[in-house]
Amino acid sequence: MQVTAFAKINLGLAVLGCRADGYHEVDMVMQAVSLGDVLTLELAETICVEVNCPELAGGPDNLAYRAAALLQKVTGQRRGVRIYIEKNIPLAAGLAGGSADAAAVLRGLNQLWDLGLSLGELMELGAALGSDVPFGLVGGTARARGRGEVVEPLPALVGRGVVLVKPAFGVSTPRVYRLHDQLPPRPPGELAPLLAALEQGDWAGLCAALVNDLERATFTLHPELAAIKQALQEAGASGVLMSGSGPTVFGLCADEPAARRVAAGLDLAGCRVDVAVTL
Ligand code: C5P
Repeated sequence: MQVTAFAKINLGLAVLGCRADGYHEVDMVMQAVSLGDVLTLELAETICVEVNCPELAGGPDNLAYRAAALLQKVTGQRRGVRIYIEKNIPLAAGLAGGSADAAAVLRGLNQLWDLGLSLGELMELGAALGSDVPFGLVGGTARARGRGEVVEPLPALVGRGVVLVKPAFGVSTPRVYRLHDQLPPRPPGELAPLLAALEQGDWAGLCAALVNDLERATFTLHPELAAIKQALQEAGASGVLMSGSGPTVFGLCADEPAARRVAAGLDLAGCRVDVAVTL
């Protein structure tokens, strides 16, 4: 069985506060994009994960492995699975690639092992694996609250172009949240204009309303990200923002051809540039 695990970008990310469990209360607008990992699942005796990417181990720490192991444990399933991951989503990028893989494994194994779990049950298991996994199961355009695991669909934003610019370095999400807490406090970002623009299908309003409270922390760690943002703006992107805890910066464009033109106009040494569409 083949399943695709799509990356996400954040059109909005507001940090509302710190929680007793060490996580942060957030309010996010998530958008799935067409850049995806391809996972091949085959019935096997045990769980085994292989990845076509030397920087990512396939062992028991891999989120795809952990998803399969969790599902085996809670359902008493005796069969195993061999998972092969063709990794296309950059690692430690703010694109939830690991979470997307975990979500794809939960969905795929629900079928392959014939488990009959509901989407709600899969989402609950997903939340135990990572805050972004429940969104990975839902996809499309969605609001994610709590620590990210409380997901509700929003009006779709399909077929818009996205230019993804990932610098050579990655960032650690806990480190970005820690620095966010040390910076002078600011009121959380306002998501209402973004939500209204989505509701009304107001493209210009949407591009003007993109907001990510974690930009300040990640840009403090990596000031060169400001230049990437500016380059995307100058190349003609309609809206530009960092995704998640970064470091990927994306440019939103009216459609895929426009995104290709913007990508072709960039001259950013050392960065990986991908063009995708919103799903
Ligand atoms: O849930 P996940 O394992 O993806 O989170 C990774 C880390 O990111 C957490 O351990 C925490 O430090 C930070 N985080 C947070 N608040 C969130 C989501 C993640 O502080 N809402």
